[in-house]
Amino acid sequence: MKILFSNLISASSPSIHLFVFLALIINFFSVNPVGAVDPYFQLCNVPRRCGNQTIRFPFYIKRLEGPVCGYPGFDLACDDIGRSILYFSGESYVVRQIFYQNQSLLVSNTALSDPEVEYYALNSLRNLSLPVDFVLVPNQKRVFLHYSCSYPSFSNYVIGVIGVDDANYYFDKVLAIPEDDKVELNGTCRAGRVVVVPVRYWGKNKEMSMREVLSRGFMLNWRAKNCTLCESTGGRCGFDNHFKCYCPDKPHAAHCDDHVPGQVSLYLLCISL
Ligand SMILES: *[C@@H]1O[C@H](CO)[C@@H](O)[C@H](O)[C@H]1NC(C)=O
Ligand SMILES: *[C@@H]1O[C@H](CO)[C@@H](O)[C@H](O)[C@H]1NC(C)=O
Ligand SMILES: *[C@@H]1O[C@H](CO)[C@@H](O)[C@H](O)[C@H]1NC(C)=O
Ligand SMILES: *[C@@H]1O[C@H](CO)[C@@H](O)[C@H](O)[C@H]1NC(C)=O
Ligand SMILES: *[C@@H]1O[C@H](CO)[C@@H](O)[C@H](O)[C@H]1NC(C)=O
Repeated sequence: MKILFSNLISASSPSIHLFVFLALIINFFSVNPVGAVDPYFQLCNVPRRCGNQTIRFPFYIKRLEGPVCGYPGFDLACDDIGRSILYFSGESYVVRQIFYQNQSLLVSNTALSDPEVEYYALNSLRNLSLPVDFVLVPNQKRVFLHYSCSYPSFSNYVIGVIGVDDANYYFDKVLAIPEDDKVELNGTCRAGRVVVVPVRYWGKNKEMSMREVLSRGFMLNWRAKNCTLCESTGGRCGFDNHFKCYCPDKPHAAHCDDHVPGQVSLYLLCISL
């Protein structure tokens, strides 16, 4: 297109110069006919918060904005005490912190996320099952939750008590045993049910209770379109059937400078000459 343009200039005919001038004028206005800022850009330019956390692409708060300013699968619910909640395979997780700079986040299963309250929902815990866009950060420890346990000497591993049937009321404890601890359960736990929970902070501070360790959660990385390029050209990332870079003029495919306005119609004008 640049060659075409310089060809026109070098033709140095006054009438062509006039056409070029007119074409540029027309283009200037046709890009943004009423000087309005693109509504998607406006919508996604507003910062979102949940509690003390900033929510931005690829995350979005479903109730506030729909997926327009986020990426599918990254929808959060902001609960009434300011926690950002993310769902993986129907299990709910509290997002403790999002690190946008390295695409990682710290989460803990909602049922395990508060060491100060009784763990009511232990019975419903399941193994972590992540969607494709999230991966567990390597080198974290695993904790094994054993159900229906009775043995009193494992009291430092007890994280909660769950009701089992009346005939088995001694076997009502849940033990949380880190993978490094060589514990011989020897029939202490009846159910044979084991749930594996990743943890980030085991080993660094062994004074922490197991409940504290579990509540601090584990680290995930996410894979989503990188927004750096779009943002560095003044855009805001979002999704509308595909990844979009919303710019003040209109939505673009990748970044705000991805084509120079006016090329197409200048080209058409040249053809018509
Ligand atoms: C956000 O608040 C939680 C508790 O309300 C606190 O533990 C955490 O450190 C805070 N995070 C930041 C980044 O201020
Ligand atoms: C995003 O892409 C930019 C350049 O393409 C790169 O410098 C940056 O590290 C990437 N960010 C992440 C979190 O991958
Ligand atoms: C991302 O950065 C934060 C803050 O620098 C750091 O604590 C965290 O471990 C990093 N995450 C990963 C997966 O490296
Ligand atoms: C469990 O069984 C092993 C071998 O049978 C024994 O060495 C160990 O002391 C037992 N542990 C407990 C807590 O009973
Ligand atoms: C969780 O995973 C572990 C090991 O991967 C497995 O032994 C256990 O049966 C699983 N628990 C449930 C409840 O599916």
